[in-house]
Amino acid sequence: MHYICPVIIKFFPAMIENKELFTTADGSKTFFLPELNEYYHSHHGAIQEARHVFLKNGLAEKSAQKQLSILEVGFGTGLNAFLTAIEAANKQLEINYTGLEAFPLTSQEAQEMAYTSNPDLELFDDLFSEIHATNWGEFSQINSNFKLKKIKETLQQTSFENESFDLVYFDAFGPRVQPELWTEALFAKIYAALKPGGILVTYCAKGQVKRDLKSAGFNVETLDGPPGKREMIRAGK
Ligand SMILES: C[S@@+](CC[C@H](N)C(=O)[O-])C[C@H]1O[C@@H](n2cnc3c(N)ncnc32)[C@H](O)[C@@H]1O
Repeated sequence: MHYICPVIIKFFPAMIENKELFTTADGSKTFFLPELNEYYHSHHGAIQEARHVFLKNGLAEKSAQKQLSILEVGFGTGLNAFLTAIEAANKQLEINYTGLEAFPLTSQEAQEMAYTSNPDLELFDDLFSEIHATNWGEFSQINSNFKLKKIKETLQQTSFENESFDLVYFDAFGPRVQPELWTEALFAKIYAALKPGGILVTYCAKGQVKRDLKSAGFNVETLDGPPGKREMIRAGK
């Protein structure tokens, strides 16, 4: 059972307002939240983590299937959506991507990440800008391989009534900071929205998270983590 400090929940939106730009060990940027002592990505490497956890152990696992529906919990800077859109074009996939975000960044904050200054990503400036320019609450066809809907809601509020997903990128802040998001009840809500054979991947590998995922019905695998982190979780339906 997680204890959720009501003071943290009440002041959470204010605590994430003060963001410091931080260069991670692979040279890519992220935000550091001093009030919470938390980062938006691994300080060992933001791009490296996204590629390992979400692309290699998530998307690649499902990409035999050409049409995929993906849910991201914690859209943040849009890094995972951006890298997924590039991979969709490389592998000729058709992806419907839903990005759930309770506290959207401004486009200017997203641009501060300067992901397209990375040599492999420099051709994709327009794609990154378009991902941030699309309207919230509706699907936008970004290109023939990638459709995006950003939803400004919390995971707790949102309802997946008419939607189902092949793949979930669970990229919330960690359980130390937001234990209310890493619960059996919310994992069960995601499980219900997953198609049979669907998977959830997350950077976190805490024992309690694995137990809560199992109680919600998932088969849980522990995989090697990205550089700097020992393990990560992939959970299947
Ligand atoms: C670890 S960061 C995500 C990083 C992001 N995936 C990226 O590529 O930049 C966690 C994100 O979850 C968002 N968040 C916090 N509480 C949330 C909630 N209750 N429901 C949905 N998103 C939430 C935060 O605002 C933040 O953007």
